[in-house]
Amino acid sequence: MTGIKVFAPASVGNCIVGFDTLGLALERPGDEIILTPTNRKGLRITKITGAKGRLPYEVEKNTAGIAALSVLKHLGAEDMGIDMQIHKKMPFGSGLGSSAASAVAGAFAVNILLNQPLEKRKLLPFALDGEELASGSRHADNVAPSLIGGIVFSPNEHEVHRILAPKGLMATVIYPHIEILTKDARNILSETVTLKQMVQQSANLASFIIACQSSNIGLLERCMQDVVIEPQRAKLIPHFQEVKDAALAQGAFGCSISGAGPSIFALSPNSFVAENAAEAMQKIFSDNKIKSDLYISQINQEGVIKC
Ligand code: HSE
Repeated sequence: MTGIKVFAPASVGNCIVGFDTLGLALERPGDEIILTPTNRKGLRITKITGAKGRLPYEVEKNTAGIAALSVLKHLGAEDMGIDMQIHKKMPFGSGLGSSAASAVAGAFAVNILLNQPLEKRKLLPFALDGEELASGSRHADNVAPSLIGGIVFSPNEHEVHRILAPKGLMATVIYPHIEILTKDARNILSETVTLKQMVQQSANLASFIIACQSSNIGLLERCMQDVVIEPQRAKLIPHFQEVKDAALAQGAFGCSISGAGPSIFALSPNSFVAENAAEAMQKIFSDNKIKSDLYISQINQEGVIKC
């Protein structure tokens, strides 16, 4: 048996209207995992790059490791000798679904090594074991799109539904160089919402799904508003409102926090608007001496792949 390499993409969690249930996959960045079979019993992490020493080598404390181990245990193959290399290609606490990408890559890679006994979608609960380790919660809004690609609605850990993306839809994501840990961004959220917020938010989620499925651009523009989470988290991201206004002024359909932040993303009708939005968003951060990275991407339709 020879070694294999997989790539799991970054993702935008929440997608404005679907807290913990809706997300989309980006073309890049993403994490890579290489697995090599060995004669030594059990799974070992032998190399980690791009993590600045912040990821543990103990399999059960590592997001990719625990997801891979869950698959191995489920298949009764935990004694199989495997060396795992993890190559992080995106920052921690960025809002780009970094932990989800690692978990997805770990679960997917092991399944490939074992000749794919499980369908891709069936890997979701195992990848969620990794997400839970990292963030303390089993939400699938990053894991599901990183796994199967596209815009994905995942109401629980066993169901994933692809939503048709309107043709040409582009995502612009800007990552300002500050760190927000998902656990911290979740801890500040209120446990309660008002009836008015509940009605508005559920109307927006339903409208988003209908608008995507029917390419109803007018409805898409009107519904992309988060009346629950964004107002509570915006204060964690310096200049959030200015960046959002800048993207919308360029013609983006909607703009909000990517996952738990600090990345901010905008959805645009085409690459021209996406690039103009990117430039305008980055200008706000650079004018305020905050370094940032930009990613402009179509919706990734593949999810995790074998390279
Ligand atoms: N839905 C999650 C959140 C995404 O916003 O907390 C980050 O894991």
